[in-house]
Amino acid sequence: MHLKPESEKLNTLPGAIMLKKSMLKALNEQINAEIYSSYLYLSMSAYCQSKDLVGAASWFRVQAQEELFHASKFFDYIQDRDGLVTLTEIAGPPTTWKSALAAFEQALEHEQLVTARINKLVDLALKESDHTTNTFVQWFVNEQIEEEASVRQVIGQLRLVGDGSGMYLVDRELGTRTFTMPAPAA
Ligand code: FEO
Repeated sequence: MHLKPESEKLNTLPGAIMLKKSMLKALNEQINAEIYSSYLYLSMSAYCQSKDLVGAASWFRVQAQEELFHASKFFDYIQDRDGLVTLTEIAGPPTTWKSALAAFEQALEHEQLVTARINKLVDLALKESDHTTNTFVQWFVNEQIEEEASVRQVIGQLRLVGDGSGMYLVDRELGTRTFTMPAPAA
């Protein structure tokens, strides 16, 4: 009698290991969305640098790094579930804004879109009874609270100081942000 290798046998169990097609597609699309986020923030960093706002430029560089980390979490998760990562074309981001404040305002709008995308991933995981993916995506559900809050805080500070000399102090504070590897899921 021919026995299948252990891994092959496991992959034929219903609901075990393999991701369903629709879930795999949505997770791959999220890799693209996270890399686009990184691209967008890198562009905002370049814009701020061109306006001599080196602190804001540095803040966006850190944010761009975080987004690549998010993308790599999805990348690893797909592979851990024995899925195929398929990378697709990344759209070009805008390159200029009316002001640093306008860039941060767009960043907040963008994060709100990302939050909506993450919620859709949860909806899909629940619909497909994919409890593993649901648990995985919960890390991002929590992360999005901080993602939106940190941008909202900067917008509040920039609106307070307007175009005056206080901008120098806000920019200096933005420059103190450093990239720290987010804590793994509990
Ligand atoms: Fe990856 Fe800023 O969300």
